[in-house]
Amino acid sequence: MRKICSVIAVMMIFVASGGIAAADGPGDPTAVKKEDDGKWLDKDGTPTYKISADGTVDWFTYSGYRRYHSDCHVCHGPDGMGSTYAPALKDSVKSMSYGDFIGVIASGRKNISTAQENVMPAFGDNPNVACYMDDLYVYLRARSDEAWGRQRPAKKEDKTKDYTAAEDACMGKK
Ligand code: HEC
Repeated sequence: MRKICSVIAVMMIFVASGGIAAADGPGDPTAVKKEDDGKWLDKDGTPTYKISADGTVDWFTYSGYRRYHSDCHVCHGPDGMGSTYAPALKDSVKSMSYGDFIGVIASGRKNISTAQENVMPAFGDNPNVACYMDDLYVYLRARSDEAWGRQRPAKKEDKTKDYTAAEDACMGKK
């Protein structure tokens, strides 16, 4: 009896931790704070999107859209929809933490569990990606919540001076 109880206890812990893992996603996307560079943060300080009723997107959503379609869509499909080769990132970000998202992009990942070998390249040394991690995250977070559809953003907030300064520093420009 005691043994069965402990098995059940272990199973319950397993289920509970599974629940926590599923809730590892970013949670409530409501933008509560705007940084000087134009980046919006949610209540936990995680980058998020801000889309006005008239369809104006924050700068990071717009920039992320552009970066995604220059460096990610070849494998992950247009608009974060996924392909036969790589997962739909609009779904991935629902269950991934912000930190894990950045980690996979910086270090890459190799799927060796299937017969087909699918490789996520490491982008940590590629400034065209590494300097725009938050942009990519914010765009995909908006896609994951269906807050933004499959279209190119037409109206956007202005690029801020602080954003340009950080971008230039990251890209090694003066
Ligand atoms: C050469 C193809 C390729 C390119 C380009 C690429 N990826 Fe990937 N990516 C993959 C593959 C394949 C996987 C799945 C790897 C695995 O299963 O371990 C993946 C996995 C990921 C994951 C983890 C998803 C999950 O559900 O666990 C993230 C996040 C990610 N990629 C982001 C990006 C971003 C952002 C870009 C653009 C900067 C990008 N990738 C460009 C092939 C690519």
